[in-house]
Amino acid sequence: MVATAKNTGEGWSSRSAFILAAVGAAVGLGNIWRFPTLAGESGGGAFVIFYIACVFLLGLPLVLSEIFIGRVGQTDAVGSIRRVAGQSNASPAWSIFGGIGAIAAFLILSFYSVVAGWVLYYAGTMGADFIQAILSGDPLRGALAGESRDQIQQRLSDMFASPMLLLVMHLGFMGLTLFIVARGVSSGIEKAATYLMPIFFVLLLGLVIYGAVEGEMGEALTFLFTPDWSKLTPPVMNSALGQALFSLSLGVAGLITYGSYIKEGSGLGSTSAMIAIADTCVALLAGLMIFPIVFAVGLDPAAGPTLVFQTLPFAFQTMPGGALFGFLFFVLILVAAVTSSISLLEVPTAWGIGERGWRRPKSALIFGIGAFVIGIFCLLGYNVWSDVRPLGFWSLFAETDILDTVDGFTGKIMLPLGALLTSLFIGWKADKRLLQTTTGLSPLSFGLFRFLIAWLCPLAVIIILVTGLFPSILGA
Ligand code: TRP
Repeated sequence: MVATAKNTGEGWSSRSAFILAAVGAAVGLGNIWRFPTLAGESGGGAFVIFYIACVFLLGLPLVLSEIFIGRVGQTDAVGSIRRVAGQSNASPAWSIFGGIGAIAAFLILSFYSVVAGWVLYYAGTMGADFIQAILSGDPLRGALAGESRDQIQQRLSDMFASPMLLLVMHLGFMGLTLFIVARGVSSGIEKAATYLMPIFFVLLLGLVIYGAVEGEMGEALTFLFTPDWSKLTPPVMNSALGQALFSLSLGVAGLITYGSYIKEGSGLGSTSAMIAIADTCVALLAGLMIFPIVFAVGLDPAAGPTLVFQTLPFAFQTMPGGALFGFLFFVLILVAAVTSSISLLEVPTAWGIGERGWRRPKSALIFGIGAFVIGIFCLLGYNVWSDVRPLGFWSLFAETDILDTVDGFTGKIMLPLGALLTSLFIGWKADKRLLQTTTGLSPLSFGLFRFLIAWLCPLAVIIILVTGLFPSILGA
């Protein structure tokens, strides 16, 4: 069956191109920044094991569902859901979750680009430091030689204090994202993924080996894989569930959109499994890259969001080759962030093309600039507007700054809502025969899939939603 996306005629050039792009979308700041942060804060092993269970019982069926919708729909998320609903005698009103998804992706992009801008700045700082190391005739020295720990930590505060610096970095990152998406699916997104993902994997493996040679790999393995079940409290479970959705790029129609560019073939089950497995392996490898280094220097794994920006640069200072590997580390995160941000921009862009009939560059420009502007508000929340609490009237967000409010609102509400509607739609409304032939699952796997998507996913996601909205239920 050959049917290109009706709106643009665009599509992936091969199955492996799709897998690479989807893995690129999944692997991002969520894997390398958020996962180790959460694992560290939550005490390691029990969180990690519960997270893996969430990925395969909850995430994988949702990955398959989103790709299925896109594969059948062959157009933007809203149009695709409408088409599946049409073929399943379900109400076209279900397409509303495609719209919610596009808005969520747009909002996530706005702060994602700001955080990626920090990474860009650190890559530049460490790159300049490495060049200095070469010029000083000692290319294998540690990073940021001669700076005290306080001075290294001060770098982050100094960066936050400068709206101009944050703005320039945000602009640079968003500009790159916009440039790639405006070029289109095969000559933009696919090309970026096919060049960047191999670079990413080489860097990741190199850094894991570096951690194994120079760091405390044994301690890291124990930390990440020895469960202390008493640490698996309800808030920890909640964050593991939410992280599984975020890391697999679920709930905002990202995979519906990417799935709509699959031109032919079925076998969506194995494709989905590869995406989930690759994403999880990268998260675990990121842990095995970061924690040996953290432990080698006797630092605190529970440092929180600043782990990557303050703890690690200090660790790289004390390690041989730290200037070089510190630089490579931030390049690695940057590469991962770009292949994810393009997927975020692609969701609303495809909507503009499919539902509004805009040309691709125009649609990408509108949403890219829109997200850039919202991102400016987010970054000003770190300095001139640090007192602003946009949803301060709502107890859940009473203490949250602008960026964390956008993050929290999308992550705690919109993303689970999108995932819930996806699972209800696929579990209860979508035509079963269409589902089975398109996914190409064996009867046994299909039965399991149907059970997970109709029962386990909605239940688990409702729990995330409710406990996310009313954290007091969890006693947190
Ligand atoms: N999954 C990406 C990460 O881990 C982020 C991301 C890209 C995303 N597209 C998404 C998150 C869609 C939620 C929805 O960094």
